[in-house]
Amino acid sequence: MDFISLENVVFSYNEEFESPRALDSVSLDIKKGEFVALLGHNGCGKSTVAKHLNAMLLPDSGKVFVDGDDTADEEKTYEIRKKVGLVLQNPDNQLVASIVEEDVAFGPENLGIPPKEIRERVDYALKAVGMYDFREDAPYKLSGGQKQRVAIAGVLAMMPECIVLDEPTAMLDPNGREEVMSTLLKLNKEKNMTVVLITHYMDEAVLADRVVVMDSGKILTQGTPYDVFSQIELLKKHRLDVPQATELAYKLCGCGVKFDKLPLNAEECVAMLREVLG
Ligand SMILES: Nc1ncnc2c1ncn2[C@@H]1O[C@H](COP(=O)(O)OP(=O)(O)OP(=O)(O)O)[C@@H](O)[C@H]1O
Ligand SMILES: [Mg+2]
Repeated sequence: MDFISLENVVFSYNEEFESPRALDSVSLDIKKGEFVALLGHNGCGKSTVAKHLNAMLLPDSGKVFVDGDDTADEEKTYEIRKKVGLVLQNPDNQLVASIVEEDVAFGPENLGIPPKEIRERVDYALKAVGMYDFREDAPYKLSGGQKQRVAIAGVLAMMPECIVLDEPTAMLDPNGREEVMSTLLKLNKEKNMTVVLITHYMDEAVLADRVVVMDSGKILTQGTPYDVFSQIELLKKHRLDVPQATELAYKLCGCGVKFDKLPLNAEECVAMLREVLG
């Protein structure tokens, strides 16, 4: 069995009414060490999936397994939350202490980590997100992007095997986004940390090992970034973006330029154009 496994997960927020299903039979496997990008337009169920990955929500029917443990088994909740750290969509909900470093220490303290190791973990996590210089500041004084990075540090300090991030770069400027992305890629490559990244940015999604696209509580398509973004018509039909370079190349194909496959970024597009144009 894969590290995380969702099997026919059905979930509605409101059981009393005939409410539409937020998740409508979602099956998804995530391997250890994989970097998965989860895409889809507003309200398609991405955050609901994220909350199922660490037992914050439990399926109405179907199953979620984390490292072989059923998330519905209450005795396993602690173990599961230790393995899968979730950075929520709105960082204000996640910051609890009045000083940045205390906030980052909160998670490891709850795990019962010895004080000396907590100090090391807090410093490591704050450096990893570029917030070490703000360690003695009050979180409320920080910008949205800075708060987001502190929230990520708080999860990193728990050293989970998998980190799930719900639009962590939504409030960041391009530099901040790049910092967060390179931090995640580094953790993934060097520490084999499993990463599940929910994002609206296609240039981030193309960096993942696998892209999963959701639509109306279901998985629409998934595969490598090349597999997924070459399905331009399908994505457009569901009001989803593709990387700009991919779209440009697709339009050039329509004008007779022959690409072997569609590029995912500007550099690839230029290299392929050089080749076809001689
Ligand atoms: N707490 C809630 N109570 C009731 N309905 C909810 C709640 N949270 C989400 N929903 C509904 O469930 C569906 C899926 O929501 P979800 O937040 O998972 O989507 P999302 O893909 O994360 O959207 P976004 O891109 O806007 O963050 C939507 O129809 C949403 O309105
Ligand atoms: Mg969401």
